[in-house]
Amino acid sequence: MAEQKGFTLWLTGLSGAGKTTISLILEKELRKRGQRVERLDGDVVRESLTRDLGFSREDRDRNIERVTFVAKLLTRNGVAVITAFISPYRAAREYSRREIGEMIEVFVNCPLEECARRDVKGLYKKALAGEIGNFTGISDPYEEPENPEIVVETHKEIPEESAAKILRWLEEKGYLPPYQEKRT
Ligand code: ADX
Repeated sequence: MAEQKGFTLWLTGLSGAGKTTISLILEKELRKRGQRVERLDGDVVRESLTRDLGFSREDRDRNIERVTFVAKLLTRNGVAVITAFISPYRAAREYSRREIGEMIEVFVNCPLEECARRDVKGLYKKALAGEIGNFTGISDPYEEPENPEIVVETHKEIPEESAAKILRWLEEKGYLPPYQEKRT
């Protein structure tokens, strides 16, 4: 088989949009296809590599900068990297793209109202009550991607459909060999 080409799928979107859910499906699918995969998720990374950081713009930028450093090393070593961070600032995402090179920006799009309705972690309620400051979408900005490679619409698609769309794109662009599910 040809040497695996490294890339980073950079998932960006509001909290609760579905980044983690989609990244977990992608991880499983890519492994099934024999790829080496690493997943970097905000909720996990913020408990280790970036546990000293909060949610000011400066800290978010530092968060993304460190994650980018790791993603860059993995990508250049042929790993399929999936990142799941709100990464609300366009400039920070552009920095990541410049550093990583093979970065595929995936906008995990979901209206704020729907994320707040889902409120998986109960954070929107707190943010709306003023108990959490600088909350993305409520009291902090989210700058939508202008030219993402892929957009998924999680209020219209189930996570499996969003993941399939991403995998299809990777196949079409030659990042992944075409895949036929084995019949059992
Ligand atoms: S990022 O902006 O620096 O990219 P990251 O994805 O790592 O954010 O972390 C976001 C997660 O932190 C959210 O899903 C949520 O669980 C939690 N969180 C806590 N406080 C905030 C806040 N003020 N704004 C956004 N997310 C927050």
